[in-house]
Amino acid sequence: MREKLEQIRSEALRPLADAGTDLEEIRVRFLGKKGELTNVLRSMGQLSPEERPKIGQLANEVRQSIEDAIKARTEAAKGRALDLKLKAEKLDVTMPGKTPEVGHLHPLERVQREMEEIFIGMGFSIAEGPDVEYDYYNFQALNIPEGHPARDTQDTFYISDSVLLRSQTSPVQVRVMEKQKPPIRIISPGRVYRSDELDATHSPLFRQMEGLVVDKGITMGDLKGMLETFAKRMFGSSTRIRFRPHHFPFTEPSAEVDVSCFVCGGCGCRVCKGEGWIEILGAGMVHPFVLRNCGIDPEIYSGFAFGMGIERVTMTRYGIDDIRLFTDNDVRFLNQF
Ligand code: DAH
Repeated sequence: MREKLEQIRSEALRPLADAGTDLEEIRVRFLGKKGELTNVLRSMGQLSPEERPKIGQLANEVRQSIEDAIKARTEAAKGRALDLKLKAEKLDVTMPGKTPEVGHLHPLERVQREMEEIFIGMGFSIAEGPDVEYDYYNFQALNIPEGHPARDTQDTFYISDSVLLRSQTSPVQVRVMEKQKPPIRIISPGRVYRSDELDATHSPLFRQMEGLVVDKGITMGDLKGMLETFAKRMFGSSTRIRFRPHHFPFTEPSAEVDVSCFVCGGCGCRVCKGEGWIEILGAGMVHPFVLRNCGIDPEIYSGFAFGMGIERVTMTRYGIDDIRLFTDNDVRFLNQF
């Protein structure tokens, strides 16, 4: 029986030296309920009482050595599996990553926000009005009655006889004055629409920014000072402004305002077409008729208003010569800002 046990030990341990062996098969074959070692233990009854404990001890040693070997193999297999897993999942953290491309604001949006910042810095707040507007606000309340020739230059898209796409941001002046009593100090940026053919300087859709200040004792001097401050902040501190007499139905007196060319400083170049000046806005003192229309007494209050094209300001600022570039969506153009 002693030999039998030693034979079991060596037969069990031999295959265990080989990494490819099925450990469970070995366990069942030698240590299982019907295993070889168990069979030997079952026949222990035939032994003499002196022999029994010795053989018993040997059998336990054999069992222990097989169990130890199986355990060692199991641990080794686990370690190998972990090694393989770690190798397969290896991550090189020093490899350069893929940087996602980050876009930026459209030049028009950027300039609009800069303009807003400048006016907010001078105490203005932002007012908004609808793109789809009543004829009353877009024209009539601004002293442009039906049949008035000023309507021709602002031909627009009509939804019905009395509703249209606003051709200017000036109707927001009326909407604000109807609701709010002086002092008023607002700007109103937004889209405007005109049935113009698209070319280098015209577009059926563009942006304007309206400004309105109404209070006691507001003069044209306030308008000039405020616009000069705006021009210097927007186009550079050496910028000068020039008022040219003009006519708008909703202001009296009215003016068109130019800024000195930021490229040549006023001596004339390609950008300002030899003029030295670039027109950027219309302005004037709010017409008493408009004030009265909105329930504000022109004997007590006065105000100034201005309106400028945001595309025009952006083109002037960056020397862009074609308004269509803003909507072409060509990244070679947009990436430059
Ligand atoms: N609404 C005018 C236009 O689109 C611009 C304008 C001129 C606005 C004079 C004003 C202003 O507020 O006072 O041509």
